[in-house]
Amino acid sequence: MRLVMIGAGYVGLVSGACFADFGHDVVCVDLVEEKIAALKAGKIPIFEPGLDQIVQSNAAAGRLHFTTDLAGSVADADVVFIAVGTPSRRGDGHADLSYVYGAAREIARSVRGFTVVVTKSTVPVGTGDEVERIIREENPEADIAVVSNPEFLREGAAITDFKRPDRIVIGTEEPRAIQVMRQVYRPLYLNESPLLFCERRTSELIKYAGNAFLAMKITFINEIADLCEKVGADVQKVAKGIGLDKRIGDKFLHAGPGFGGSCFPKDTLALVKTAQDAESPMRLIEATVAVNDNRKRAMARKVIAACGGEVRGKTVAILGLTFKPNTDDMRESPAISIIQVLQDKGARVTAYDPEGVEAARGMLSGVEFGGSAYEIAEGADAIVLVTEWDEFRALDLDRLKALMAAPVLVDLRNVYPPQEVVRHGFSYSGVGRAGPAEG
Ligand code: UGA
Repeated sequence: MRLVMIGAGYVGLVSGACFADFGHDVVCVDLVEEKIAALKAGKIPIFEPGLDQIVQSNAAAGRLHFTTDLAGSVADADVVFIAVGTPSRRGDGHADLSYVYGAAREIARSVRGFTVVVTKSTVPVGTGDEVERIIREENPEADIAVVSNPEFLREGAAITDFKRPDRIVIGTEEPRAIQVMRQVYRPLYLNESPLLFCERRTSELIKYAGNAFLAMKITFINEIADLCEKVGADVQKVAKGIGLDKRIGDKFLHAGPGFGGSCFPKDTLALVKTAQDAESPMRLIEATVAVNDNRKRAMARKVIAACGGEVRGKTVAILGLTFKPNTDDMRESPAISIIQVLQDKGARVTAYDPEGVEAARGMLSGVEFGGSAYEIAEGADAIVLVTEWDEFRALDLDRLKALMAAPVLVDLRNVYPPQEVVRHGFSYSGVGRAGPAEG
């Protein structure tokens, strides 16, 4: 099959490369010429484990192509995926759909023969209707079906998530489109990934409901963590204790500094707006957004408390800047708010991240970046683990202690067993693990 992926961002590039790996012929189209030139030269604009290899091997095999020529690619396509960005619109939090509608207009002008147009970007309920209206208005002759097919992959685990998804959701009731989409995903249902067919609007809502539920689950355990600190309980064990109940499940119950990234913050906000507009407010998600926003700054206060209530003139070393490990994505990362509060309170901040430093430089000022955990720990009054990269999981605590001005570890991801850290002479603060232990 000939597939076109419009938008070579996270979702577009990963989906395009994986579809090519399944044997489809895929063209990835992007407006940004430098991005396409780089991809043609084998350079991947994002850090995603395994993606470079899949892109290179499929490009070499002639199944994966990159171009800025949307019209030419769409003309020959069986399926055109819209995988452009849907950022939060400035001011009101609604999803900005201008790129999606722009793509729809261009598709309309170029389609030939029956073509399935698929929205893969996360788009609010009703967007598929509008895409269809735009295409029919621009080109009344166009023989198209508009389908919703949200993507559920996670950054850092994108290839596995794409190739072994829990489910594939396809929103269309058009029989020809159902046949085409079955063909597109045939290699996946050999893996027994269930295909869920439903109405287009239902499919669009499934994506938001899924992300909002996960964001709420994280926020729930974060609030339980705060309560644990007050009443002397351990959130890790509470999470385990409730997670063993199959109705709850053990995933996404890891307490931490609050969720970030390019999806949960944007999608929860967009769902809140959609629900308000539909006069069916979602108070649980409104609370999730508010609690999570406050949490990031609260984590900075935790660091200040661990430093004895004052950070003016002190050095705080930040381990991990990206919103989660295995990505170079800094969007909405808790590290940003934490660092800004610490700087506002007069701290000198040093930081290290295995992949995120380049992106962080553009978002943070006054931070001294180093090349390793040990380099930034030199002379520090506290070290704060913000992102749980594997290389931070087995730090040489004795070496760290010898380098630091004061042995204070704030572990915002509960990576370390408190007793072990204390045994090495540190004072330890985790998340939801009673009061800070003294070294
Ligand atoms: C999320 C969803 O998990 C994907 O299914 C979805 O496709 C994607 O959004 C999207 O809409 O495109 P992603 O943002 O890449 O994926 O990352 P997650 O692994 O979900 O983590 C999101 C945030 O939650 C991170 O800041 C992470 O640190 C935090 N988190 C996650 C926790 O604090 N605790 C947990 O137990 C899990």
